[in-house]
Amino acid sequence: DPPLRDLADAKGKVIGTAVTGSKLTGTYGRIAGEEFNFLTPGNAMKWGSVEPTRGNFNWTEADQIVDFAEANGQRVRGHTLVWHSQNPSWLTNGSWTSAQLSQLMNDHIATEVGRYKGRLAAWDVVNEPFNEDGTYRQTLWYNGLGADYIAQALTAARAADPSARLYINDYNVEGVNAKSTALYNLVKSLKERGVPIDDVGLQAHLILGQVPSTLQQNIQRFADLGVDVAITELDIRMQLPATEAKLAQQGTEYEAVVKACVAVSRCTGVTVWGFTDSDSWIPDTFPGQGAATPYDENYAPKPAYSGIVTALGGT
Ligand code: G3I
Repeated sequence: DPPLRDLADAKGKVIGTAVTGSKLTGTYGRIAGEEFNFLTPGNAMKWGSVEPTRGNFNWTEADQIVDFAEANGQRVRGHTLVWHSQNPSWLTNGSWTSAQLSQLMNDHIATEVGRYKGRLAAWDVVNEPFNEDGTYRQTLWYNGLGADYIAQALTAARAADPSARLYINDYNVEGVNAKSTALYNLVKSLKERGVPIDDVGLQAHLILGQVPSTLQQNIQRFADLGVDVAITELDIRMQLPATEAKLAQQGTEYEAVVKACVAVSRCTGVTVWGFTDSDSWIPDTFPGQGAATPYDENYAPKPAYSGIVTALGGT
């Protein structure tokens, strides 16, 4: 069978995975390099990872992933610049004026985006800005700067690397619902105001049996605003143990998600949030659940892998 990336290339789509830098050797490195044409660092580029103490930077893992991608002819989406989570404690524990917060955010973006200028395909600039009901999440950024932090962050990212595609990324926005409609209205207003926004990322941390029926329609409505759309963090979790029947259903659901993207020309592709069950966030966060990725813990491809193949036009 041709690797997933050959099938995706033939369709002009991205097939990506989140990766952990320290694991990019052996079987993990071989699969990451051979099967995917796109990488996203799972944690390495988060603020808490790159600037654990103020002014002291650690780019080791981030550099390693970008070097690996370049060696394998892959593109990278940086993840993530402005978020409420995985920030360094010096930042979250500080008490800042609005002017200081604005400066901190802009400097962070200039530093990190600037470091990789011209080398990254894209950045998740703003991550998870909304609550489930479509109101803005009360974060360090929102509380200090108001909703305008989003426009400020996008503008700073564009200035730091004009060649990178700029994303807003969120979860539970895959179907048409209150949260995705809030995101839709935000993107519409940013476009109207001329704020640089290129892409919407639908994370797609899904639950077996709950793929939204409005997924393709939702992708299409964002595309109709004049932005590209990507599925950025796909996984489909299940209650363990994983039975043959559940894994088969998961295969059908992976296929449906990838097909929904393939069906919309402005959907650029799909990234899975870890390609193996041995490198997935699910068991730590949802005890008793797992088996959410396309390969099992021993790197054997699951029906989910075959579902992606089918959706990308393979057999
Ligand atoms: O690095 C430490 C290690 O030294 C320590 O021994 C270990 C003990 O728990 O923790 C390690 O850090 C963990 C880190 O992942 C690396 O494995 C953190 O505790 C853990 O919280 C962190 O979880 C990450 C999570 O974001 C944090 O919110 C996941 O790996 C990562 O996959 C996940 O990714 C997020 C996206 O960025 C945004 N969308 C949702 C998605 C899933 O939560």
